[in-house]
Amino acid sequence: MDLNAKKIALRKIPHGVFIVGVKQDGRLNAFTGTWLTQVSFIPPLVVLGLKKDTISYQMVAKDRVFSVNVLGKDQKSVAEHFVKPASVAGEKLQGVAYHLGKTGAPVLDEAIAYFECEVREILAGGDHAAVIGEVVEAGVRQDVDALTLKDTGWQYGG
Ligand SMILES: Cc1cc2nc3c(=O)[nH]c(=O)nc-3n(C[C@H](O)[C@H](O)[C@H](O)COP(=O)(O)O)c2cc1C
Repeated sequence: MDLNAKKIALRKIPHGVFIVGVKQDGRLNAFTGTWLTQVSFIPPLVVLGLKKDTISYQMVAKDRVFSVNVLGKDQKSVAEHFVKPASVAGEKLQGVAYHLGKTGAPVLDEAIAYFECEVREILAGGDHAAVIGEVVEAGVRQDVDALTLKDTGWQYGG
């Protein structure tokens, strides 16, 4: 395979930029994620590519819930904040307005929309696991266009 072609072709897949909220026991965390898509209407399922060497992966594997916070076009700075590993940034949710959703995962007050998932399956995958979540709650604050990876000028994929 032509590795450069693989990289360019895979980067053609359009992605949103989300803040994924996680919990484990009493601890909360959130990270910037882009590998997320819907994979079923009934039941409503999404799949999230989740990096295995992160604290967030350990938390999702244990408590098996997550929230997906959708950002607006002008909220790249929020994504910048949550991209830092918790081991470096500490408590990323400190100073950020949020509430606990139905699943107990954090839901950001400034998200334009959100949904919450219960994990149905975790497929080993490779360096990221494929986490299949069933959407059990959702809300919309502002029905406007969402931030995409293309909007940010960042790359994650290839
Ligand atoms: C543009 C961009 C997109 C990202 N998308 C994902 C993703 O879809 N899944 C993932 O697990 N990590 C993704 N990451 C990496 C996480 O944001 C990063 O590993 C984060 O530090 C993990 O946070 P934690 O240490 O708090 O668990 C992405 C990073 C960037 C810069």
